[in-house]
Amino acid sequence: MPGAPKKAAVVGWPIAHSKSPMIHGYWLKKLGIAGNYKRIGLKPDEFVKGIRDLVSSGYAGCNVTLPHKEAALDLSDTATERARAVGAANTLVFKDGKIHADNTDGAGFIRNIQSTCPDWCAQTGPALVLGAGGAARGIIHALHAAGTPEVFVVNRTYEKAKALSEFFGVSLIALPWGDLSKQIPKTYTFINTTSLGMTGQPPLTVDISLLPKTAVVADIVYTPLKTALLQQGDALGLQTVDGLGMLLHQAVPGFEAWFGTRPVVDDALRHCVLDA
Ligand code: ATR
Repeated sequence: MPGAPKKAAVVGWPIAHSKSPMIHGYWLKKLGIAGNYKRIGLKPDEFVKGIRDLVSSGYAGCNVTLPHKEAALDLSDTATERARAVGAANTLVFKDGKIHADNTDGAGFIRNIQSTCPDWCAQTGPALVLGAGGAARGIIHALHAAGTPEVFVVNRTYEKAKALSEFFGVSLIALPWGDLSKQIPKTYTFINTTSLGMTGQPPLTVDISLLPKTAVVADIVYTPLKTALLQQGDALGLQTVDGLGMLLHQAVPGFEAWFGTRPVVDDALRHCVLDA
């Protein structure tokens, strides 16, 4: 229906915790766009039909969160190179009855580092990624795309790191957890993609004191905003990047595709999400 408010949503299971409605709601209000964005809970066996129903009821698209990111890619008609490389989609755009998939997590991570540390340049030196799950996949792909010369991955379950390095090829080197202390002094970008350090999870106990003084320390955990890892980085005088910005930046391409205006991540949005 021409002129009707555009509709988008975030789909997942469970979904009550999702901060996406807050982010898109903030932009809709700020930009004066008559659209709406809501949470939709779909269990795995409801997912495909649920998405098809959104397409037929005029939705512009949706974000997809756990546990549906792989299924979202499988059900799409087209997918960006980055979504195919990661093997998962977090953003779906519906156009002319077709489903187009993208994965914006890695690009959100890079934009967040760039906006927090304007001097950071992916090409400057090696990155070390802790963790080998879905988040690591997106970030590793984006680090490569941004020109990081070498990416190392360290994971509790070494086999998963090894499998990831086989998937990405020679440009990703898997190291056993025991090699962390040897690799840290050679690292320019240090990234925690595990859930360690998140409220309610075990702490991340890694000594980063031998990182070079120019290194940047990033955490994708944002509850708490200042994780023990970032506190350690701050105390060492290193540049640190929290996980909230990645969440905000990954939302930008979807909003632009559904509502037609590229939104800006600003401090007021950070506060809106943090204070909620
Ligand atoms: P996501 O999609 O958010 O990346 P995930 O795919 O479940 O979530 O991956 C979680 C990551 O955190 C994994 O790398 C996991 O390590 P394993 O592959 O060994 O499971 C890591 N992780 C979770 N709990 C951990 C713990 N207590 N110690 C070390 N690593 C942990």
